[in-house]
Amino acid sequence: MASTGPDHPTRDAGFGIYLHWPFCAAKCPYCDFNSHVRHAGVDEPRFLAAFRAEIAHNATRTPGRTVTSIFLGGGTPSLMQPATVAGLLDAVAAHWTVAPDAEVTLEANPSSVEAGRFHGYRAAGVNRVSLGVQALDDASLRTLGRLHDAAQALEAIELAQSAFARTSFDLIYARPGQTPALWRAELGAALARAAEHLSLYQLTIEPGTPFHGLAAAGKLVTPDDEVGRALYDVTQDLCAKAGMPAYEISNHARPGAESRHNLLYWRYGEYAGIGPGAHGRLVTPSARIGTVTERSPEAWLARVERAGHGVVETETLTAADQADEFLVMGLRLREGIDPERYAALKGRALNGNRIGMLIGDGLLERLPGGRIAATARGAPVLNALVAELAA
Ligand SMILES: C[S@@+](CC[C@H](N)C(=O)[O-])C[C@H]1O[C@@H](n2cnc3c(N)ncnc32)[C@H](O)[C@@H]1O
Ligand code: SF4
Repeated sequence: MASTGPDHPTRDAGFGIYLHWPFCAAKCPYCDFNSHVRHAGVDEPRFLAAFRAEIAHNATRTPGRTVTSIFLGGGTPSLMQPATVAGLLDAVAAHWTVAPDAEVTLEANPSSVEAGRFHGYRAAGVNRVSLGVQALDDASLRTLGRLHDAAQALEAIELAQSAFARTSFDLIYARPGQTPALWRAELGAALARAAEHLSLYQLTIEPGTPFHGLAAAGKLVTPDDEVGRALYDVTQDLCAKAGMPAYEISNHARPGAESRHNLLYWRYGEYAGIGPGAHGRLVTPSARIGTVTERSPEAWLARVERAGHGVVETETLTAADQADEFLVMGLRLREGIDPERYAALKGRALNGNRIGMLIGDGLLERLPGGRIAATARGAPVLNALVAELAA
């Protein structure tokens, strides 16, 4: 069995902290993230105390680590008071060494940010903001159930860029009625405003969401596979020409401006998942473990107040599990994977014949230095590619 000690390759990618804030001002009809609306308000100090406890709990399992990135995700973390964000970041710094150049990202919603808050977040230690813009036209924003219009989104982008050196924003494409020509124009406008990073997601109809019900009833029609593919090609083409090529299936950045925290996931690094419904991957002296916390915010709070943490599942990952996760995550990246790291985890190398066949089919390529990566043709059919390689 592959070693999981301190020199294990899963440590190479850094150590990250994910903090999940599970509240939103409204629930978007396409979204199946662990996010909840609480009209009666949220007791931030009480949640902060619980986060502190869970941070301390994670620190006892990962002594001596240096934190290379922190990600405040949601939900809508920009609903938090800056003092709450400061409390969270102070708690992280009290338990681990935080690298001087650590990336500290906060996800923000254009309808819940104003200049004062952004400056407060910056003073708290946030150094990167990721904004959920989703679309740059008002009709689409209404369909998506967003609380902001395009003008407010553009204002939020400007505000973020004036307060932070590092910013990103998210758009959702393959929306109902979207043609490649419309998307080309919208993405062009987005690229003209993007500083260094963009996340561009194809709309996914998630089971259990209102969009799922509407789609099943024929009331919401999304572009078919052929148009979806054309939209994806427009995305790759425009972003590459604008100097922001894809470094992952849905993420685009100027070289050097990639999200370090997201890279950590895809390079299969180590991270603590803290807050309701957060997932973690920790390396203990005897194993790499997966952790999952209680999903419901109030049940998580009660559990942490009772037990000191909200973890409801701890899974020891076998070497084969790790190799498979490493492959699934790594092939999302343009830089691909190091087949030797796969072999070290799995205890056997990938099948050379299969690799050769997939290269022959134009789905996979071998990069200088021996890494293997999905090609532009392979990336849209990644699941099939992984299944073929892992078989
Ligand atoms: C957790 S949200 C973070 C931002 C913040 N909550 C907001 O919406 O402004 C992360 C991103 O996932 C994307 N997303 C969520 N549900 C999606 C879906 N069903 N299909 C495609 N993208 C989705 C959106 O672009 C969203 O900004
Ligand atoms: S997309 Fe963002 S704002 Fe909308 S429900 Fe999901 S997490 Fe909340």
